Amino acid sequence: MAFTLTVNGATHSIDTDEDTPLLYVLRDELGLNGAKYGCGVGQCGACTVLSDGAPLRSCFVPAASLSGRAITTLEGLRAPDGTPHPLQRAFLAEQAGQCAYCIPGMILAAEALLREKPAPTEAEIRTALDANLCRCGSHNRIVRAIQRAAAERQR
Ligand code: FES
Repeated sequence: MAFTLTVNGATHSIDTDEDTPLLYVLRDELGLNGAKYGCGVGQCGACTVLSDGAPLRSCFVPAASLSGRAITTLEGLRAPDGTPHPLQRAFLAEQAGQCAYCIPGMILAAEALLREKPAPTEAEIRTALDANLCRCGSHNRIVRAIQRAAAERQR
């Protein structure tokens, strides 16, 4: 099935099975490896990207169904000159990643939150990221990183 997909501002022509999940297209067709395969059934959040600014589990949503949407992956957050996004800098500053497998999904879920709510409370951060799992137990550092990024945006 042929369709177009807009990812990080660029429109791509894709030809794949109609039920191929977005995650496979991103990683295998477009070479965008930021989104990770964790559970494959929409339960861990490792594959989170943004679709029109909202978090989306890319592991089970067919890419063809997202034609016309603006998809953003981790690669699309940094500035054109390669400068890391404030959330990426904050995650590094707080050493929020241990194995870091969950971090791309965490950052995109956080980006969606901060776009909607620039100064979230700790409880709102924890609620927004509740469905993004971190098996290393870095949750407190992740929350601090999001608070740091929110504070930086406020300045
Ligand atoms: Fe998609 Fe776990 S890999 S939610």
